[in-house]
Amino acid sequence: MTQRIAFLLAVTLFWCQPVSAETDPRTGLIIDTGWELVNGHCGACHSHKLVTGQRADRQTWLDIIRWMQATQNLWQFDPDTENKILDYLATNYPPLPNRRRAPIPPSLMPADSSDTVLSAED
Ligand code: HEC
Repeated sequence: MTQRIAFLLAVTLFWCQPVSAETDPRTGLIIDTGWELVNGHCGACHSHKLVTGQRADRQTWLDIIRWMQATQNLWQFDPDTENKILDYLATNYPPLPNRRRAPIPPSLMPADSSDTVLSAED
């Protein structure tokens, strides 16, 4: 019995842990495969906060890089480096899930509201 309680407690505590990835204290970048490349290439012109504050899928990350290359003098990457940078960005800074609630199903909506609207004369 005590064992079961201890087990359930352990499971609960485990699930309540915030998902905290290890981050580099200097840049705030999540430490994961390829982070050194992003550390080296992406902090030269602006803060790494511009990177860590952005969420995007792989294609949008590529679009951002292409935009900086076309307009902000960002240098070209060899394909291998670019792929590793995109892997890192798309894995660690993916789009956030939609925070809006789902629409209320019709079955939970009030009955036809024309019955209950009070007219101005009432
Ligand atoms: C050669 C300079 C330069 C380098 C290197 C650079 N950027 Fe940028 N980046 C810019 C400039 C300039 C802006 C616009 C800043 C602003 O709006 O204040 C920018 C903006 C951004 C933005 C914000 C885009 C938006 O839509 O608001 C993101 C995200 C970003 N960069 C990510 C990166 C990443 C990832 C890398 C590394 C692959 C990188 N940057 C490397 C120059 C650079």
